[in-house]
Amino acid sequence: MKFFLPWLLLPLGLHLASISTGDSHGDIQFLYLGFVGTNLSVDGTAAITTNGLLELTNGTLGSKGHAFYPSPLHFLKPNGMVQSFSVAFVFGIRSSYLSMTRQGLAFVVAPNMNFSDALANQYLGLTNIAKNNNPTNHFFAIELDTVQNVEFKDIDSNHVGIDINGLTSIEAHTVGYYDDISGTFHNLSLNSGNAMQVWVDYSGEARQINVTMASLEMEKPARSLISYTYDLSTVITESAYIGFSSSTDEIDSRHYILGWSFSMNRPAPKIDVAKLPKLPPNGKKPHSKLLEIILPIAIALFVTLVGAGIILLLRRRMRYVELKEDWEVEFGPHRFSYKDLYHATEGFKNKNLLGAGGFGKVYKGVLKSSKLEIAVKKVSHESRQGMKEFISEVVSIGRIRHRNLVQLLGYCRRKGELLLVYDYMSNGSLDKYLYCVEGKVTLNWNERFRIIKGIASGLLYLHEKWEKVVIHRDIKASNVLLDSEMNGRLGDFGLARLYDHGTDLQTTHAVGTMGYMAPELICTGKASPLTDVFAFGIFLLEVTCGKRPVDHNMDDDRTVLVDWVLKHLREGSLTEAVDTRLHGDYNVDEACFALKLGLLCSHPFTNERPNMQQVMQYLDSELPLPELTHADLSFDMLSLMQDEGFDPFTLSSSIGTISSISGGR
Ligand SMILES: Nc1ncnc2c1ncn2[C@@H]1O[C@H](COP(=O)(O)OP(=O)(O)O)[C@@H](O)[C@H]1O
Ligand SMILES: *[C@@H]1O[C@H](CO)[C@@H](O)[C@H](O)[C@H]1NC(C)=O
Ligand SMILES: *[C@@H]1O[C@H](CO)[C@@H](O)[C@H](O)[C@H]1NC(C)=O
Ligand SMILES: *[C@@H]1O[C@H](CO)[C@@H](O)[C@H](O)[C@H]1NC(C)=O
Ligand SMILES: *[C@@H]1O[C@H](CO)[C@@H](O)[C@H](O)[C@H]1NC(C)=O
Ligand SMILES: *[C@@H]1O[C@H](CO)[C@@H](O)[C@H](O)[C@H]1NC(C)=O
Repeated sequence: MKFFLPWLLLPLGLHLASISTGDSHGDIQFLYLGFVGTNLSVDGTAAITTNGLLELTNGTLGSKGHAFYPSPLHFLKPNGMVQSFSVAFVFGIRSSYLSMTRQGLAFVVAPNMNFSDALANQYLGLTNIAKNNNPTNHFFAIELDTVQNVEFKDIDSNHVGIDINGLTSIEAHTVGYYDDISGTFHNLSLNSGNAMQVWVDYSGEARQINVTMASLEMEKPARSLISYTYDLSTVITESAYIGFSSSTDEIDSRHYILGWSFSMNRPAPKIDVAKLPKLPPNGKKPHSKLLEIILPIAIALFVTLVGAGIILLLRRRMRYVELKEDWEVEFGPHRFSYKDLYHATEGFKNKNLLGAGGFGKVYKGVLKSSKLEIAVKKVSHESRQGMKEFISEVVSIGRIRHRNLVQLLGYCRRKGELLLVYDYMSNGSLDKYLYCVEGKVTLNWNERFRIIKGIASGLLYLHEKWEKVVIHRDIKASNVLLDSEMNGRLGDFGLARLYDHGTDLQTTHAVGTMGYMAPELICTGKASPLTDVFAFGIFLLEVTCGKRPVDHNMDDDRTVLVDWVLKHLREGSLTEAVDTRLHGDYNVDEACFALKLGLLCSHPFTNERPNMQQVMQYLDSELPLPELTHADLSFDMLSLMQDEGFDPFTLSSSIGTISSISGGR
C-alpha cells in the first residue's frame, strides 16, 4: 500500500506532508509545517487559522476541540504487538492574562474520532466522569496540563504526563528538559506563551514510552523527561486515529499546534521550526474579561484624576488671579503679585488680622523672599473709574519716604479688591495707648510730646517738602502708628480720595472723620492744608487730654473737646485738662503749650490758623506762640457748628457720607 498526497506539498510552502509506506505494514510518515490546506478532521472549537496554525481552542470558556489525522493508522504488528512509533509536535498556549492559562492539551491515540460525550475543563476533551479510566476507552495520551487537579493526582500545575484510558497519569513530570551538557533539569512554563516542542517515542521492542521536551530554539535533548516502560498493546487498537484534544475552563486560553510530524518504526521527521507559522501576539485577544473590567475603571480613574488635576490647577490659578491692565506696566516695580501677598499673610488668615478700619481689613504678613514684615490693607472697590489716576497716585505716594510717615510699598489689584502694602508698624496705632483701660501702661509725657513733634514733621513734609502738596485728609489718633522705636508715623495719607468713588477731586463730598473736620470742610467739602492743620490741632488736644474729640465722659455737660479745653483756658485751670492718666507726671509748660497750640490750630477761622511750617517752628521754640486773644477765647465750637447746621448728636441725619466713612470708632 502506497499513497501520496501531492496537494499537501504544493500550496504556500508552509506545510509539507508526505505519507509513505514501508515494506510490511504501511509504515506511515508525515510532516506538517503549519496546516494550511490540510485535511485534518476537526471538531468543537478546533480550526485552522488563516496563517496556518491549528487552533484547538479559541478562547471560548469551557470549550473543547479536536483535530485528527483524517485516516486511521495500523499500529499492530502481525503478532498483535504495537509497533514502534515516533511523534514530534510544536505547540503554544496563549491567553489574555499574562502567565495564566487553563486547562491544557494532549496528543492522543484513540480507536475513533467521536469525542462528543467527552467533557471540557479538567477532562481535556478526552473522556467524562463515567468513562474515566475505563479500559474500553483504549486511548493513549500525552497530556500537557496547566492545572493541578487533585482528583487526578496531578503533581503540579505545569506538567506533562502519560495517560492510559483516563486522566490519572501513570507517569508525569514537571515541564522542562535535562541539559545535554550538565545533565541538570531546567523547567519550562506552559503558561509562558512560548511555543515548545514535544517528542513521544515508543519502542515496540522495549515497550518503553519516552517523552522529551525542549524550547523551540533547542535541538532534541538526549535525555528524555519521562522514560516509562508500558506495553501499549493492551491499549491501542489495531486501527487507531492520532490527533490532539484540548479544553479550556474559566480562562480564555487558546491552544495551538504549529507543526506536527509522525513516523511508524522510524524517528519522526525533524520539524524545521523556522518554517512554522507564528503564534498570535500574547494577550491580543478580543475583549478579555479582565480588560472589560479593568480598562473602564482605569479610564474612569484616569479621567477623574486628570479632571481633579485641572480643577486643582484652575482653583490655584483662580485663587491668585489678578486684574492687570496695560497702563499698569509702568508701575510694575510697585506691583505685588497676589500670590506673594497670599503666602505672606498665610492666605489672609484671621490670626494675622491686625485690625479693621473704615475701609477694610488690615493683615500682617512676612514676604517670603525678603523676610520683610508688611501690613496688607484689603480695600474693596467696585468702580474702575479713576483707578488709573488712583494707582498712579499710590505709586507716587510710594515714593514718599519720611521717618514719620508709614511707607507705602506698593499695591496689587484684583476684581473688586485693591491691596495696599505698607511697612509693618510693630507697636500698632496710637489710639490703643491713649484709650487703654485705666491702670494699664500708657504713654508718658515725653513719649507723647515726641510723637506730636514727629507727626508735625511728617505732615509738614507732606504739605511743603514733597514735590507736590499732599493733603492727608484724615489725621487722627487711630491713623498714627508706632514703629518699633515708638516713633509716631502718619499712615493712610493721600488715600482719602479713593473713597470719593473716583469722582471729581474738587468734590463737595466731605471726607474725613467727624470731630477732626474743620467747619469750612464740612460746609464746602474742600480739603486744604489748613483743614489738615485743624485736624492736627484736634489731634494735639487728644494726645494731651487723653480724650476723644467728641466725648461724653467729660467732667461737665460739654461734649466737644475743643470747647472743654477752651473753658479750662478761660477759667485759668488749663492743667486740669491734661490727661489724668499721667498722674501729674508731666512738663507743665510743654503740656500747656501743646493745648494752646492745639486750640490755635483748630481755630474755626482759617486765617487764624498757622501753617505747618509755623507749627514746626513753635514746636521747636524757634518762634514764640502767639497769645490767644480774648476774641479767640470767646467762640464756642459747638454753637459755631450748630450755626453751620451741624449737630454732633444727629450727625448721621445731615451728613450720611461722612458718618459712614468715619467708621465705627
Ligand atoms: N502699617 C501697619 N502696621 C501695623 N498695623 C497696622 C498698619 N496699618 C494698619 N494697622 C492696624 O490696622 C488697624 C486698622 O487700620 P486702618 O484700616 O488704617 O484703620 P482706619 O481705617 O480706622 O484708619 C489699625 O488700627 C492698626 O492697628
Ligand atoms: C470559537 O469557536 C466556536 C465554535 O467554532 C465559535 O462558535 C466561537 O464563536 C469561536 N469564538 C471565537 C472567539 O472565535
Ligand atoms: C479529507 O478526509 C476525509 C476523511 O478521510 C475524506 O472523506 C475527504 O474526502 C478528504 N478530503 C480531501 C479534500 O482529501
Ligand atoms: C458519538 O458517540 C455518541 C455516544 O457515545 C453517539 O450518541 C453518537 O451517535 C456518536 N456520533 C457519531 C457521529 O458516531
Ligand atoms: C522552575 O521551578 C522553580 C522551582 O519550582 C520555580 O521557582 C520557577 O518559577 C520555575 N520556572 C519556570 C519557568 O516555570
Ligand atoms: C528511551 O530512553 C531510554 C533512556 O533514556 C533509551 O535507552 C531508549 O533508547 C529510549 N527509547 C527510544 C525509543 O527513544
